[in-house]
Amino acid sequence: MKNQIYVWDYMVRFFHWTLVLMFTIAYLTGEELDLVHAYAGYYIIGLIGFRIIWGLVGTKYARFSQFITGRRAVIHYLRGLVSSQDTHEEKQYIGHNPAGGWMVIALLVSILATGYSGLKVYGLEGNGPLAVSSAEYSQTPLPSLIKVSDNDDEEADEEFWEEIHEFLANFTVFLVFLHIGGVLLSSRKHHQNLIKSMITGYKKS
Ligand code: HEM
Ligand code: HEM
Repeated sequence: MKNQIYVWDYMVRFFHWTLVLMFTIAYLTGEELDLVHAYAGYYIIGLIGFRIIWGLVGTKYARFSQFITGRRAVIHYLRGLVSSQDTHEEKQYIGHNPAGGWMVIALLVSILATGYSGLKVYGLEGNGPLAVSSAEYSQTPLPSLIKVSDNDDEEADEEFWEEIHEFLANFTVFLVFLHIGGVLLSSRKHHQNLIKSMITGYKKS
């Protein structure tokens, strides 16, 4: 296509929109523990695992080395973004801009941490790959009096991980809002339709 440059390969686009779908499903099904929630969560962990590998061996603009920059580049970019001058730095940054690049990393880490904490909660309920049976809480075969406190430990642990899981899920949502805000702001600033680019793979050159 004339004046168009192919930036986001099929894998990145598939990853992005499937992640949006699965994250929405996981977030909305979190309140009632149900298989849909667990499977959406597994799917998300798989997607992030794939994206990490693709960030190391994937196409040019998908690689972490292409979009992870130093602090100075991030500050310079953000200053340009909020200044009233009309910049066309998108030409310099065909893939993710420096701020966007770090946002990608923050999102991947936060989603992965959310997934892990979900696996812990699920495990403490006796389900999934991190399942712990109540018996594992009794380290010594002592009378039932001790076992009562073991159960208390288990409940306290479950509550602890539930809090962490809820916090991380909401923190990820906070990052998503910043992410969408950043996408809209830089689209306007650089006269690019970044949302369309994430659908078609092409950006204006
Ligand atoms: C990575 C994406 C995930 C998101 C966005 C997410 C989101 C949520 C949310 C919002 C809640 C409700 C918290 C509350 O208000 O109490 C929740 C609960 C829960 N999630 Fe996840 N979750 C994810 C992954 C997982 C995974 C991978 C598992 C395990 C397979 C999991 C297991 C659970 C469990 C066991 C609960 C507690 C349900 C209950 O007993 O109330 N989650 N999750
Ligand atoms: C419907 C709302 C959303 C829109 C319109 C949107 C749009 C975009 C766009 C345009 C990009 C490319 C940015 C660039 O050109 O530098 C992008 C990248 C990304 N977005 Fe979103 N996004 C949305 C929701 C989400 C959600 C919910 C998540 C995570 C839960 C997410 C995670 C990511 C990640 C990880 C990338 C990096 C893609 C990669 O390099 O593989 N986005 N998004």
